[in-house]
Amino acid sequence: MQLSLGTVLPSLWERAPLQTLFLFCAILLILAQYLHGRRHHLRYLPSPPSLPILRNIFQMDFKNPQITIQKLAREYGNVFRTHVGSSSFIMVTGLPLIKEVLVNQGHVFIDRPPFPIHFHTFKSHGLIMSNGQEWRHQRRFTLMTLRNFGLGKKTLEDRIREEAGYLTEAIREEKGQAFDPHFQTNNAVSNIICSIAFGHRFDYHDSQFRELLKTLDNTTVLLGTWECQLFSMYPRIMKFLPGSHQKLFREWKKLETFVEHEIKQHKENLNPEETLDYIDAYLKELSKNNIHSSFDEENLIFCTLDLFLAGTETTSTTLRWALLYMALYPEIQGKIQAEIDRVIGQSRQPTMADKEIMPYTNAAVHEVQRMGDIFPFNVVRLATVDTTVAGYHVPKGTVLMTNLTALHRDPKEWATPETFNPEHFLENGQFKKRENFLPFSIGKRVCLGEQLARTQLFLFFTCLLQKFTFQAPPNTQLSLDFRYGMTVSPASYQICALPRVM
Ligand code: HEM
Ligand SMILES: *[C@@H]1O[C@H](CO)[C@@H](O)[C@H](O)[C@H]1NC(C)=O
Ligand SMILES: *[C@@H]1O[C@H](CO)[C@@H](O)[C@H](O)[C@H]1NC(C)=O
Repeated sequence: MQLSLGTVLPSLWERAPLQTLFLFCAILLILAQYLHGRRHHLRYLPSPPSLPILRNIFQMDFKNPQITIQKLAREYGNVFRTHVGSSSFIMVTGLPLIKEVLVNQGHVFIDRPPFPIHFHTFKSHGLIMSNGQEWRHQRRFTLMTLRNFGLGKKTLEDRIREEAGYLTEAIREEKGQAFDPHFQTNNAVSNIICSIAFGHRFDYHDSQFRELLKTLDNTTVLLGTWECQLFSMYPRIMKFLPGSHQKLFREWKKLETFVEHEIKQHKENLNPEETLDYIDAYLKELSKNNIHSSFDEENLIFCTLDLFLAGTETTSTTLRWALLYMALYPEIQGKIQAEIDRVIGQSRQPTMADKEIMPYTNAAVHEVQRMGDIFPFNVVRLATVDTTVAGYHVPKGTVLMTNLTALHRDPKEWATPETFNPEHFLENGQFKKRENFLPFSIGKRVCLGEQLARTQLFLFFTCLLQKFTFQAPPNTQLSLDFRYGMTVSPASYQICALPRVM
């Protein structure tokens, strides 16, 4: 394999575009895997022929692989297994089975798989990709610290409202002209986690921070490319090939450097009397000098980076879906604004207490998350011991994916599964919780920032609709096109924000 690549590469290099070359390699590798798989599988579970079903591989333009996957799910039911590289995957569909694996067997599927692409970036430290005692300690400490810094309290709400003020200001500067809201929403959302982690926000005109957000955006897109997925399957080959995985490693390094720089400054200014932010709190934990604990400088870097990454991309993507849906469904936008005008008016900013008496707005935010469906297959987990799912043997080391799209678009659960419709979360005009709605996942590894995200989504969304009406630019049609990356996010779009009061 490597030999033939070695001889073919140089001659193809000049004639064929890089993409073609990669496609060629990918097909060969997958074919080899397929033939290998055919001979060696013990068929414990209903299992289609080996096929890469990491969601991002969908980007490989093998003429719509989604269709193939859909067929598989239909043929193989609520749980099926497949192989990619040396990993075995199971895909679980339907609420009862998802609860079975994430809650009842939560202790079994508690780890993250050690994919090489993640090992090269997250280094298996921090919060998102760590496992075992290390994960447990880092997560507990972080949750406690977030609470100390105002999560679920008024102080954090105040911070978000203040930021929403800056955001509306920035959007007003667009003067109702068409603009891409990506950058402003990203900066506003990121500033909340930055205030908690670093103790300060970044001005929207700060060109260095703007560059950093661009880098962050690049990495989240790069993580979804199929070169990066191939890296996870064949790291030893991919390491020597050019491609977006190499770019990812370079961009990632920039993010690490940024966090290291913040930490260095915190060390210099550390005041033993005062703990101003997450890094301060962590540095104090470090100074306790417990040699047996997982609290070290490395984990400080990666926990902070994880908070920055997870706290920026997800919520900001959801808000961009929200603005898009508002422009696409003007009557719904009008109803939300009517509720805002009735409950809050124009003279004060929204609060979380308003949420309880604003069922329509609350339902709309939930509906944005249902339709946005930014993690279609959740975040992957790993079976830590041999177990049984739906009567099938699942060996230790199997990677678990749960199909959240199937929950969020189940025609048996939702009146209009493919259409944006806040009524899904309403009953007799009151907000109604829905079981088949798990954008933050469930169980012991449930999203650590769920409460923070919910607070931000409600307050930013309500503040924006209080002040603006979102519309497609004249003579253009907005679409729901999306891009794959770490999350599924709207393809970049232009929108007009018309001020509601002068
Ligand atoms: C709309 C916004 C968000 C969505 C939809 C979302 C969704 C998710 C999902 C599905 C997971 C995987 C959970 C699992 O494995 O079961 C996750 C994990 C995580 N999220 Fe979020 N998230 C959001 C916002 C945030 C925010 C604002 C933060 C910042 C504090 C955050 C921090 C994390 C962390 C640290 C993890 C890893 C938890 C662990 O492995 O223990 N998320 N999120
Ligand atoms: C997940 O569920 C959706 C909606 O039912 C379906 O279209 C898709 O094929 C499923 N994906 C997989 C990989 O099972
Ligand atoms: C992000 O990616 C684009 C496109 O590949 C590139 O032009 C740009 O320089 C990158 N930006 C940063 C800040 O890394």
